[in-house]
Amino acid sequence: METILITGANKGIGLELVRGFAASGRHVIACCRAPSEASDLQGLAASNDKVEVHEVHVSDGASVAALAQTIGDRPIDILINNAGMAGPGFQHQGLADMDYDGWAETFAVNTMAPLRVLQAFRANLASGTNARAVTVTSQMGAIGLDIPVMFAYCSSKGAVNKVMRIAAPELKADGIAVALVHPGFVQTDMGGPGAEITSEASAAGLISVIDGLTLEDSPCFKTWEGTDHVW
Ligand SMILES: NC(=O)c1ccc[n+]([C@@H]2O[C@H](COP(=O)([O-])OP(=O)(O)OC[C@H]3O[C@@H](n4cnc5c(N)ncnc54)[C@H](OP(=O)(O)O)[C@@H]3O)[C@@H](O)[C@H]2O)c1
Repeated sequence: METILITGANKGIGLELVRGFAASGRHVIACCRAPSEASDLQGLAASNDKVEVHEVHVSDGASVAALAQTIGDRPIDILINNAGMAGPGFQHQGLADMDYDGWAETFAVNTMAPLRVLQAFRANLASGTNARAVTVTSQMGAIGLDIPVMFAYCSSKGAVNKVMRIAAPELKADGIAVALVHPGFVQTDMGGPGAEITSEASAAGLISVIDGLTLEDSPCFKTWEGTDHVW
């Protein structure tokens, strides 16, 4: 049975990924900042013994290390770096006005934390089967697709794309495939109610894409519909 570790698992796309993987019989290590407040995720875990809930603050090295210690040397087949933030308010991350502290926090969560989590669980992935290190990025991070808003968010996602891409060759030697995935424009707290697709549809598409990934695909940037995304 595959084991999947997912960050940002308490709501939105992360929660639906947990639901989808668990429904297909996989074991899910569902991680979030505040398990005691994650009522939907706790409800899922209460009704499905394949879901275990853990606390992690992905931008805090000690917290990630503590989670790694708790998990120990269990093999992990799929790591999904999903936790992410939009960054400073829309008007405060542009040419006219940039919240630099907010930009730094956005980088810590969207760019640096995925590498930190990957480092922490690299050995677990290396002992997994058809191991995949997946990061939920965004079309807004694509260098070849200029959407001239949200400088902090776009740059943080563009940077994580680059980080994962340059980590891929070394990880390939460990048998770990690297994938960046764009989940669509999704109706979550981040995407808002006017977004194009539901979190259920996004997660179903992502699970299908992730299930189809092999080492030969690495590194790749895919949409939730399975098409190649421009880098
Ligand atoms: N929604 C979209 O249209 C869209 C489009 C492209 C990419 N994405 C990406 O998809 C991923 C999931 O987003 P979503 O749409 O599901 O948004 P969401 O419902 O707002 O969920 C975001 C998740 O990230 C966690 N998170 C936020 N800030 C964090 C921080 N500072 N430290 C640790 N965890 C933090 C949240 O935990 P808390 O509840 O504790 O805050 C939550 O679990 C993100 O990486 C996002 O960038 C979303």
